Amino acid sequence: MGRGIFITATDTDIGKTYISGAIAVALRLRGINTGVMKPVASGAVYGEDGILRSEDASFLMEAAAFSEASRQEVNPVCLVPALTPAVAAVESGTVIEPKQLVKACKSMLRKKEFTIIEGVGGILAPIWEDYLVADMVRDLALPVLVITRPNLGTINHTVLTVDYAQRHGIQVRGIIVNHWNQEQISVKERSNLEYIERLGKVPVLGTFPTVAGLVAGKQAMRQLGDLAEQHLAIDRILCFEGRDEYDRHGA
Ligand SMILES: Nc1ncnc2c1ncn2[C@@H]1O[C@H](COP(=O)(O)OP(=O)(O)OP(=O)(O)O)[C@@H](O)[C@H]1O
Ligand SMILES: [Mg+2]
Repeated sequence: MGRGIFITATDTDIGKTYISGAIAVALRLRGINTGVMKPVASGAVYGEDGILRSEDASFLMEAAAFSEASRQEVNPVCLVPALTPAVAAVESGTVIEPKQLVKACKSMLRKKEFTIIEGVGGILAPIWEDYLVADMVRDLALPVLVITRPNLGTINHTVLTVDYAQRHGIQVRGIIVNHWNQEQISVKERSNLEYIERLGKVPVLGTFPTVAGLVAGKQAMRQLGDLAEQHLAIDRILCFEGRDEYDRHGA
């Protein structure tokens, strides 16, 4: 079985896809055979060709240089309503079988050296009935990266997410703070970061800037990968087997 990481966040729209893509490009540029998945997506739209596509899956596929032929493998469940998957599925008359999703993820993990799997919403988002993102993470036995934002309210959301994960047997590899723009950083952001590390007892493995004017295409992807190398602790994100320095010496 190849290795992998599950990407969750404190909320929807925090940057799971963006950061997942950036990490995928960085790994690919390192020569790692990289897998990406968005097992369940909602809010998907039909293209002019009549094919239903999730934007998240498209972005991850571009980052990992996957062809269109792999869409089903990357994103087995693709729903139109922009609702939490459990509800979007019912609304669109779709039955989600969590076991099948886990199987699909494991198949990608087996095929690739390292796979990045993006969740939906946050760690408690319902995928199907009472099967939550956290249940999928546990079934996959993968560590998680929690993407979070730098501003007010983030200590509470981040520490709650980390605490829930840990209480439910999920290893939190670390936190990545998205939209961290060095020139605007004040005591607020700095203290948020300190509190998150202190209360969450997990390392911050990177702070990622807001990138302006990045369009799709090879050049843009390359830039995203370079930014990931520059701002994220890629080595520590990759190395999840065994326990890291913090786990060995920490709480
Ligand atoms: N660092 C960044 N720089 C510029 N734009 C960003 C950055 N991070 C995220 N975005 C943009 O913000 C929006 C939300 O990010 P993203 O789609 O990655 O969030 P998400 O957590 O994956 O959301 P969802 O829960 O819908 O999957 C997107 O339009 C994305 O392109
Ligand atoms: Mg996303």
